[in-house]
Amino acid sequence: MTLHSIATQPIEGQKPGTSGLRKKTRVFMGPHYLENYIQATWNGIGGVQGKTLVLGGDGRHFNDRAAQVVLRMAAASGAAKVIVGQNALLSTPAASNLIRQRNADGGIILSASHNPGGPDGDFGVKYNVSNGGPAPEGVTERIFGATKTLTEYHIFDAQDVDLGRIGTTALDKMQIEVVNPVTDYQALMETLFDFDAIRALFAGGFRISFDAMHAITGPYATAILEDTLGAAPGSVVNGIPLPDFGQGHPDPNPIWAKDLMDTMFGPDAPDFGAASDGDGDRNMIVGRGIYVTPSDSLAAMAANATHVKGYAGGLAGVARSMPTSRALDQVAERLGIACYETPTGWKFFGNLLDAGLATLCGEESAGTGSDHVREKDGLWAVLFWLNILAKRQVSVADLMAEHWATYGRNYYSRHDYEAVDSAAAQKLVDDLRQQLATLPGRDFAGLTVETADEFAYDDPVDGSRSEGQGLRITLSGGARIVLRLSGTGTEGATLRVYLERVETDPTRMQDNPQQALAAVIAAADAIAGIAERTGRTAPDVIT
Ligand code: G1P
Ligand code: ZN
Repeated sequence: MTLHSIATQPIEGQKPGTSGLRKKTRVFMGPHYLENYIQATWNGIGGVQGKTLVLGGDGRHFNDRAAQVVLRMAAASGAAKVIVGQNALLSTPAASNLIRQRNADGGIILSASHNPGGPDGDFGVKYNVSNGGPAPEGVTERIFGATKTLTEYHIFDAQDVDLGRIGTTALDKMQIEVVNPVTDYQALMETLFDFDAIRALFAGGFRISFDAMHAITGPYATAILEDTLGAAPGSVVNGIPLPDFGQGHPDPNPIWAKDLMDTMFGPDAPDFGAASDGDGDRNMIVGRGIYVTPSDSLAAMAANATHVKGYAGGLAGVARSMPTSRALDQVAERLGIACYETPTGWKFFGNLLDAGLATLCGEESAGTGSDHVREKDGLWAVLFWLNILAKRQVSVADLMAEHWATYGRNYYSRHDYEAVDSAAAQKLVDDLRQQLATLPGRDFAGLTVETADEFAYDDPVDGSRSEGQGLRITLSGGARIVLRLSGTGTEGATLRVYLERVETDPTRMQDNPQQALAAVIAAADAIAGIAERTGRTAPDVIT
């Protein structure tokens, strides 16, 4: 085994986005690309000498090869130990948990989350810090800085480490512990949820369909839902992780999890449906004949948290990303607890969770989580819901009807315009920013603008300020429009338009959010000139 120091040059564009560095798989597989970024990560975090790291990924194409590179580079830079999921697999929340349980210094997660995989799909690398959460902006900036000054990287020339066998091996002086990816995660879930109550629910004939979308949650869901809680065999569908996710798009929303939607809206539908994404941190909740938006799910979870074993003592506070609907705020107000509004991306919840200011948090993009780890957690959300339903003995539809009657209904939708010309998208946002001050008082599509600003966040814990976090416009009737550019796309720009309106009159509630939001949608186009500037007549994805 020889240690090599390989001369290299900075590679442009290795800038971590909303959630680590994400690029086309073939880009990551190109010469020095992965190695440069890993070395920059080590340099950006002050080296890995003597440190303990966690390593795993969502099993997408190149996951296995990349894991071997990370191990050889960790050993070359003097890491003391790496804890790896068997076959280099770990869901993102399970990795976060392992970092915390084992007091590791950090971890590398190989994933592009919900983006498609395979040689023509996407790949990604994310660094998480010692609290188990995504590296905060200060750290990602140092990593990016390091990518720009890199001159060499260090790597061992060695045989592949056998990651198929559970147990401890070594690479030079570095210890490698291969662990079952599910065991510690499942143990954590058992502390949080009333497994006996959920077991009784299934024993009573309650039926679930969980779509793992051929991604990482298959083994977790099978072990927990079927093998431990007694859901009928076959409750977990698409449960075998595949490197290309079966050519699917592992994003749990009504578009990409259409089969599950058809099941849940079809004849003889199960009582409960759910799905998770590529790396297991997102969730989708569906009842029989009813889709629960992520924003509503978060609000309903907060409202019913005391029925859930690990949260029976109540919530310290809650948090949502700014574009997430304000349904959560209504619940927080009623509970008399704080509701924090953060920029998009899970990293902003870390400080609030660490400081004990928030217990539950979530994003409109199908992410929900709590202080049990420092990532959003798909299967955790499913178990949270199952615990509520087991205790309350109501259907999803009845629970949501009661929720809306109590708190009002926040109609919500996100319109995505994907792979838009980057310059045109940037100009749209820049021009709208210029106009913001002139908007209040003006009417668009029958709605009057009340406020218009660009969101900036002052972290209440460390005082850091994050600017340029989305344009937001509130309008009469509890309506709101938010616009921002995606930080996770890999092709052109993705414009996200978030639309919301509140209805408090139960007699006027309806089930079609696009209809309920028609005026808000028209106002957004009138204000930002979306169709004209993007050349698109309709969004590519509506969630
Ligand atoms: C998207 C979501 C955001 C989420 C992130 C990572 O980021 O909008 O809520 O935290 O993926 O899963 P975006 O592409 O909008 O920057
Ligand atoms: Zn994800």
